[in-house]
Amino acid sequence: MANDKLSNPYLLSAGDLIYDDVQLIFSKTKFFLENYKRDVKFDDLKGVTVALAFFENSTRTRLSFELAAKRLSADVFSFATAQSSLKKGESLIDTIRTIEAMTVHMYIIRHMCSGVPRFIQNNTNGIVLNAGDGKHEHPTQALLDTFTLMRYFGKIDGLKVCIVGDILHSRVARSNMSMLKTLGAKVGIYAPGTLLPAGYEKWDVQRFDTIEDAIEWSDVLLMLRLQRERMESGLLPTIREYSKYFGVDLKRFSSKPELVLLHPGPVNYGVELDYTISSFPNVLIETQVMHGVFIRMALLSLLSEFVAV
Ligand code: NCD
Repeated sequence: MANDKLSNPYLLSAGDLIYDDVQLIFSKTKFFLENYKRDVKFDDLKGVTVALAFFENSTRTRLSFELAAKRLSADVFSFATAQSSLKKGESLIDTIRTIEAMTVHMYIIRHMCSGVPRFIQNNTNGIVLNAGDGKHEHPTQALLDTFTLMRYFGKIDGLKVCIVGDILHSRVARSNMSMLKTLGAKVGIYAPGTLLPAGYEKWDVQRFDTIEDAIEWSDVLLMLRLQRERMESGLLPTIREYSKYFGVDLKRFSSKPELVLLHPGPVNYGVELDYTISSFPNVLIETQVMHGVFIRMALLSLLSEFVAV
């Protein structure tokens, strides 16, 4: 192994990780995956306090960070904005400083505004992990997605992965594009023109015009949810039409039996995916969720080496 410590004492975007960092995280993830037992607690985070600050809804990411930190013996607390003094007008930075005064070492931040985790990192001595910021980045999702592909295919270099759907609003797409490139995959995109950001032509990716072409080229389809909570009106004529041109149903999925399908969840069945295919062995949605806990254990453990003693 080329290095035994991460390059940066935080994780704000997928670009913070070089190839060797990802390999280090993957090998630690594999260790936790193979050695986790219900009755054995790891003590990597003993004496470390972790704050979960989720300013936006989350099920998988919040629960898996919480579980990961607890399995490593951290002291964990959740900071629910609905019951906090943010509602009384306290600024974000004052809130974070207040939390820091209680000696918090690591912050897991989810926020609807892009850039908030970096802003917090610049204003604390703690270690910040981005759990999803606006349309910007979701680096732990990209880690667990690529780890899932690594376990399934044995390698990522040269793998063809097409990202399908609402790329404009997707932090998952942005982080995955960056991480897949770091690991040597080829990236494709298939999306309605209205759901692609300005300047996408400059990306080093292949764009497809039909789902059939995308499927033919791909080893993997990474499906995205239509993120309607971030959408202005008028971007799509109808959901039915979107589903017809951009959704994957049994017929399309069966046209290539070896095709692998990922989705970060939550899935809108009947829109981007047909429920009938969810239980196919090469639809890896539940494996992604399972790997998510171990990826976050590995990351927390490796980042805890930067906690000041
Ligand atoms: C994603 C998110 O919140 O960015 N989900 C997740 O974290 N597993 C994707 C989404 O909401 O569509």
